[in-house]
Amino acid sequence: MVGVGARLQYDPRLDAAPGQKLDPGRQGFRIALGKHRLGWRFLVHASILPPGPLLPLPMPAPSLEVHPDARTASRVLAEQLVARVQAEPELVLGLPTGGTPIELYAAMVEAHQEGRVDWSQVRSFNLDEYWPMAPAHPQSFAHFMREQLFEPAGFDPTRTHIPSGEVAPESIALHCAAYETAIRAAGGIAVQVLGIGLNGHLGFNEPGAPRDGRTDLVDLAPSTRERAAAAFAPEKVPARGITMGLGTILEAKQIVVLAFGTEKAEAVARSIQGPVDEACPGSLLQEHAQVHWLLDEAAASQLR
Ligand code: GLP
Repeated sequence: MVGVGARLQYDPRLDAAPGQKLDPGRQGFRIALGKHRLGWRFLVHASILPPGPLLPLPMPAPSLEVHPDARTASRVLAEQLVARVQAEPELVLGLPTGGTPIELYAAMVEAHQEGRVDWSQVRSFNLDEYWPMAPAHPQSFAHFMREQLFEPAGFDPTRTHIPSGEVAPESIALHCAAYETAIRAAGGIAVQVLGIGLNGHLGFNEPGAPRDGRTDLVDLAPSTRERAAAAFAPEKVPARGITMGLGTILEAKQIVVLAFGTEKAEAVARSIQGPVDEACPGSLLQEHAQVHWLLDEAAASQLR
């Protein structure tokens, strides 16, 4: 025997269009009804349930894959991107920097060298860049992308976009708005690839960043600067960066998060199984309908 249950739940964090279907789950689904004039959001959770108390309803399981190592996981994603671009040459990609995507980019370069894919029509938008930062600086994300991916994989430089680290202070607001406009003009990001910071940051959106934030100049957390210190002379680690906002990131149609190594295990567990909270930007991904986590065993080790 089964009963049908539904409940109205107040959720201040969810920013969804009225009627938007959010997460088709294994045992239920939820639908955003609308937005209270004070900014509250309401959800209806509905599900076929066994008899008994209706609350709490089970939430859908996150979509994740655990691979033995970073190389294997990265290759899986590279092959998925190759297949997508073969079918859709002008695919719009959102791209990260850092140590995490290095294997992914190597596999994308290899696919190009083997003649299996043509990346030259792809449009790409990088997540972030230090500010101030000259694009020729060896620690700039612009330099990293050129070296690791764009040049060896045959991307068209006129189709790749990275926030500018050398924009004048008085032009930053305009530059950030133009970045958002360019993403929209490209039809939005189809696949956003993300890494995650030790504190759960996404791009340079540090804990506490607003979930509806747009591309902007932001301060880097001390832990982010400490981690970057190995690459810079310690006193020269930039204090700020320009990053896509969490709102920008969460608008991507599909998001793939890569996380490798024990050092990421806590941020991964918190993001996937912890409360949805701006204190851990990665946890906001729980409210996106199409997020896929690609982990190695070490990064998955704190998942319950
Ligand atoms: C950096 C970048 C992020 C990146 C994260 C993780 O600060 N701004 O976009 O995902 O930190 O870096 P890594 O992959 O080196 O661990």
